Amino acid sequence: MTQTHLGGDSSGPSPSGVGAPGRARIAARTLRTDRWWVEPAVTFTLLVAWLLYALIRTASQRYYFVEEYHYLSPFSSPCLSASCVPASRDFGTWFGEFPPFVPLGLLVLPFLLGFRLTCYYYRKAYYRSFWLSPPACAVAEPHGKYTGETRFPLVLQNAHRYFFYAAIVVSLINTYDVIRAFHGKDGGFGIGLGTLIMLVNVVFLWAYTASCHSCRHLIGGRLRHFSKHPTRYWLWTQVSKLNTRHMQLAWTTLGTLMVTDAYIALVSAGVITDLRLVN
Ligand code: FES
Repeated sequence: MTQTHLGGDSSGPSPSGVGAPGRARIAARTLRTDRWWVEPAVTFTLLVAWLLYALIRTASQRYYFVEEYHYLSPFSSPCLSASCVPASRDFGTWFGEFPPFVPLGLLVLPFLLGFRLTCYYYRKAYYRSFWLSPPACAVAEPHGKYTGETRFPLVLQNAHRYFFYAAIVVSLINTYDVIRAFHGKDGGFGIGLGTLIMLVNVVFLWAYTASCHSCRHLIGGRLRHFSKHPTRYWLWTQVSKLNTRHMQLAWTTLGTLMVTDAYIALVSAGVITDLRLVN
């Protein structure tokens, strides 16, 4: 193998990053011959599609609530603005009318976004597919230097555990919304397909939140002897099992959030009728 320099061009090695002193001098950007670019390309496409959907839906301020069955979209919960339908304001009216395009769930969306953006899995996903840093294992990144998560803005990634606490509160609110969605036509108990979709969504949201690396550390970290903390040890083993599925849960919850919101939007807009199972 010809060994000249690393960094992807012929102008000489970069002073840092993959061209730093001590790194292997390889002319090619990568020696991989498989289709390593497929995964970051698919990740990029799916994340952009999801973000566009969420942006359009949260900015539309429409079709987020089905009053008859008390279905409230997770994108607009809790609905605390005077712009919200009165029946959707179970937690009161904290804000006046929102101007057009301002998400009705404005209070919690920054925390949810922060939780996902600083998530260990999503970091991997967007570092690879958006920043190409690096795009795949054994593929040189195009950037000249790498400072990691030690400086602004990426040093904020270390705030993940605090976003985790906020995510628990949001999951509790989503759970409350599901309980409210067991609501029938006559005002009593009822179950519809929308109830079940919301229930599945909240179960996966809890599973994703519980599988968080910060949660695992919170439960089992800073202990010298598991044998003296059997309950925490048992909880830690359960959370650890979920933790191995964290990536799958991250994607599944993006899907269930979108399906839940889309179903509520279609019922709210009168495009489809909710399938009623009980009342
Ligand atoms: S590591 Fe992904 S949510 Fe905490």
